[in-house]
Amino acid sequence: MSLKDKVLAVLEENKGKNVSGSEIARSVGMTRSAVWKAVKQLRDEGYTICAVTNRGYCMSEENDFLSEQAIVPNLRTKDLGRKIDVFKTIDSTNNFAKSLAQFGAVHGTTVVSEVQTQGKGRMGKNFYSPTGMGIYMSIVLRPKLSVDHSLLITSCAAVAVAEAIENISGLDCRIKWVNDIYAGDKKLCGILTEASVNVEQGGLEYAIVGIGLNVQNVSFPKNISDIATSIRMETNKSVSRSLLTAEILNCFEKRLETIRDKSFLEEYRNRSNVIGKRIEITSNNGSEEADCIGIDEIGRLLVRFDSGEEKALTSGTIRLV
Ligand code: BTN
Repeated sequence: MSLKDKVLAVLEENKGKNVSGSEIARSVGMTRSAVWKAVKQLRDEGYTICAVTNRGYCMSEENDFLSEQAIVPNLRTKDLGRKIDVFKTIDSTNNFAKSLAQFGAVHGTTVVSEVQTQGKGRMGKNFYSPTGMGIYMSIVLRPKLSVDHSLLITSCAAVAVAEAIENISGLDCRIKWVNDIYAGDKKLCGILTEASVNVEQGGLEYAIVGIGLNVQNVSFPKNISDIATSIRMETNKSVSRSLLTAEILNCFEKRLETIRDKSFLEEYRNRSNVIGKRIEITSNNGSEEADCIGIDEIGRLLVRFDSGEEKALTSGTIRLV
């Protein structure tokens, strides 16, 4: 860890409180003038740190930058987030996590960025990822699961994200099959899972779970302003993105422990905003209306068409009618 990062860790740990220069110097093993230099560098990066004579330094609670130093102390996980890369900018955290996985990154390796220049959504769409507003993160998983069960990973992540948002902000979140988190009738978060299959063993080699969550946004571009929302817009509160990132990892690791017994599916169904509703299903063959009658044991959406025919969907786009 660089000296600057060590100073950042102390200031994050004492956010909103004064810490004397000599106390910081002692705890990180450097001189007071080196502390001052590190503080200056952090200010240049945008952190608001006040320096008061005889009181020391104080990092403003309003700083909401993502950093390893602010995320890791809030983790209660064994694996998830224990190896973490936090970027100022990146094309896509999913792409980077995928290249790490190809080079053997361990289960739980996490990639987070302040902005994505080419954030990817499902169906080849872009994911709007402006600077400092959201949580854009990807987690490398190496679960011992068959390919048939890979849909469960996304469902499990959706439950964990909804729980984490509720724990940190109090906002009631629903899940729109298969990968969207909603507040009311607007989307807060999307999840994109990309998997690599081990052809010889027939199971998953790794999965990359990409989570894009709108946190601090106060507005959206015209093309998505009718369908997108953020935690701030829903609650009028500014929640710490680093704290929320850690809580997502905490909830996800806990829920992943139940992926085999599938007990998380009960919570998934409780939070579903489509079960029992009339929906429109869009696939390569066009659009058709149906009644949504449930979600099965491998995360498929169960629908009944007006002809009486019932189907279990593994993919596709649905819309509430
Ligand atoms: C969707 O709603 O269609 C899924 C959106 C997934 C976006 C996240 S942001 C972090 C990760 N990196 C990406 O490029 N995409 C996912």
